[in-house]
Amino acid sequence: MNEKTCIVTGATSGLGLETARELSGRGATVVLLGRNPEKGKAAMEDIRAGQPDARLEFLAVDVSAQQQIREVAGKISARYPRVDVLVNNAGTWFSKRTFTEDGIEAVFAVNHLAYFLLTHLLYPNLRRSEDARVVNVGSDSHFQVKGMYFNDLYLEKNYHGLRSYAQSKLANILFTYELHRRKPDEHLSVNCVQPGLVKTDIGVKHTTWLHKLAWKLRRSSGVEPAEGARTQIYLAASEEAKGMSGLYFDDCKPKRSSRASYDEAAAARLWEVSKEMCGIEDYFSPSDH
Ligand SMILES: NC(=O)c1ccc[n+]([C@@H]2O[C@H](COP(=O)([O-])OP(=O)(O)OC[C@H]3O[C@@H](n4cnc5c(N)ncnc54)[C@H](OP(=O)(O)O)[C@@H]3O)[C@@H](O)[C@H]2O)c1
Repeated sequence: MNEKTCIVTGATSGLGLETARELSGRGATVVLLGRNPEKGKAAMEDIRAGQPDARLEFLAVDVSAQQQIREVAGKISARYPRVDVLVNNAGTWFSKRTFTEDGIEAVFAVNHLAYFLLTHLLYPNLRRSEDARVVNVGSDSHFQVKGMYFNDLYLEKNYHGLRSYAQSKLANILFTYELHRRKPDEHLSVNCVQPGLVKTDIGVKHTTWLHKLAWKLRRSSGVEPAEGARTQIYLAASEEAKGMSGLYFDDCKPKRSSRASYDEAAAARLWEVSKEMCGIEDYFSPSDH
């Protein structure tokens, strides 16, 4: 991947760090995005310990804040007019309903809207690649909801961290399929991936002690992050995955996602709602920078 430029969100730990490490190991220039500059520095040092010549850059962004996403996209666009791979990976879950500075429920903002907005903002850069790939990191947790709660997206009536997380992961797939249907560029592929159960800290960051304990017990039967990241790396980098688009992957193979995820009316509705929430006029022609 010597000539390729890859952007990985949430690259400071877990699946994102392993994805950045592997793409860099294959020769790509990798831009690591994360909210914590200290962790960003440590992540780059960690990768460089095994790859002294790695071409890496860290850019700080809290993806719960739309203004910060716009700013970082502007920086990326200025430095990398062509982007070959965008791995939308940053994810979170909150035990208690939390709102972002934009007034949006945090899990929905980070896990879905950030994917939607960053892909929009970098679309012109992706368009310049002959083999552009967008990889959205989803989860089989999406099977736990029967559909989007369009009348109560922030789950005001009945918030639960797992429900909010599951809804956001359903949104990842609806977005992937809808982007595949709408995108004007054949040479751009978009897929969603389910990494499986992976030993990361996702469940211990914004959670109650009980949820922390539950996650620690649950993840003990999971795989290591390097193993869990295999499918997103496959989609980002393999020759075999070239041209495949609009699919849900598990273990480097396409598989069926939930029935709700194939609801095209819901996908179109989510698209419009997301456009409005992000203040987007024309999804494929960003006017922002
Ligand atoms: N672990 C699993 O079993 C599993 C299963 C299915 C799907 N997934 C998905 O895999 C993806 C990666 O998660 P992970 O398990 O690797 O967890 P993780 O180690 O916690 O990594 C999540 C990454 O996202 C970043 N992030 C979270 N909120 C952010 C924000 N507001 N702004 C910027 N960056 C933010 C984190 O930054 P900090 O380091 O600063 O927190 C971290 O770099 C997520 O989309 C998750 O839903 C995970």
